[in-house]
Amino acid sequence: MSKVYGIDLGTRALKIYKKNDGVIYDAKNILAIKDNSTIIAIGDEAFEMYGKAPSNIEVTYPVKYGVIADIKNMQQLLNLVFDEIGKTQGKLNGAEFIITAPTDITEVEKKAFVDLVANTNAKPRRVRIAERPIADALGAGLNVCEASGVMVVDIGADTTEISVLSLGGIVLSRLIPIGGNKFDDDIINSVKKKFNLVIGNKTAEVIKINLATAIAPEENNNPTIKVHGRDVVNGLPTEKEIDTAFVYESIAEHLRSIVDSVKIILEHTPPEIASDIIDSGIYVTGGSSQIRNLDVLLGSETELKINICNDSANTVALGLGKIIENPAYESLAYVLKQATYKD
Ligand SMILES: Nc1ncnc2c1ncn2[C@@H]1O[C@H](COP(=O)(O)OP(=O)(O)OP(=O)(O)O)[C@@H](O)[C@H]1O
Ligand SMILES: [Mg+2]
Repeated sequence: MSKVYGIDLGTRALKIYKKNDGVIYDAKNILAIKDNSTIIAIGDEAFEMYGKAPSNIEVTYPVKYGVIADIKNMQQLLNLVFDEIGKTQGKLNGAEFIITAPTDITEVEKKAFVDLVANTNAKPRRVRIAERPIADALGAGLNVCEASGVMVVDIGADTTEISVLSLGGIVLSRLIPIGGNKFDDDIINSVKKKFNLVIGNKTAEVIKINLATAIAPEENNNPTIKVHGRDVVNGLPTEKEIDTAFVYESIAEHLRSIVDSVKIILEHTPPEIASDIIDSGIYVTGGSSQIRNLDVLLGSETELKINICNDSANTVALGLGKIIENPAYESLAYVLKQATYKD
């Protein structure tokens, strides 16, 4: 039986689906490089070093804003991931792959996703591509081939991808450079401004996961957490208490930008499809869709039903699984034609 794998190459996470086995790899898409030459850790082990490594160790994410920013390191990282999988799951040599890429990127950027897999040591038999919004919608439980008019909003780490699909095709799709990482940066900046406290990305993410909300909290429901950082003035480690209202205010502007982009796409949606979206509502996926009350904010701004998907960080990988397992979806993965280059 032939081996088939699906790959969701995210800014933050790398997920691999294996035919008949489900999601067999899910780790941070990150690597640690020593002295500009040797890879000393990948995935979650490399993430542990993030923000703590000495200056001769670079800890870096090769995918940025949804596209492969550092092809050389991404290639090496993927080879090491395949080696790791090979130890427990059998070698990947000669397997078939489907990789997803955002829709709203250039043809050359898309081709880089296919070339990345084609050039691995696995020497694949065939590499196909699937549009990420389609995989997303399948993973959210929608039958994209039958559904006429659905909107999917994937709020990830570096990007938010807002797409309108109809009858298995993409009507509109926009990739905007706002996601969970921006919320983390907002929190870092506000904490520095208000408390004179320098915190790292990991601390900011913990604050976000614990406290972030998309609507202003009530005065009597304003939980707090204690955070540690370095005082800007005296340079000493310090502890401060941060509340939900403060976190809400820090991230509100970027949340507003996402909502505004959703509204712009809705305004550009053909009327027949828009009326279907009124019935089906908006499907929200991606790790950052877990921000509390996002459904309340989006629902009040768009007056549509908001479906926040379960297992929201895995919808793309699960959707790839549906394309791999279900012959009815076979045509949703395709071989990319040779990219055309402008002179
Ligand atoms: N409970 C939570 N509340 C808020 N944000 C969360 C939560 N859990 C995860 N996140 C955020 O979700 C983001 C990761 O989401 P996801 O795995 O969908 O990203 P990705 O697919 O790698 O990125 P992209 O799609 O932008 O390339 C991170 O910014 C993380 O902080
Ligand atoms: Mg993603």
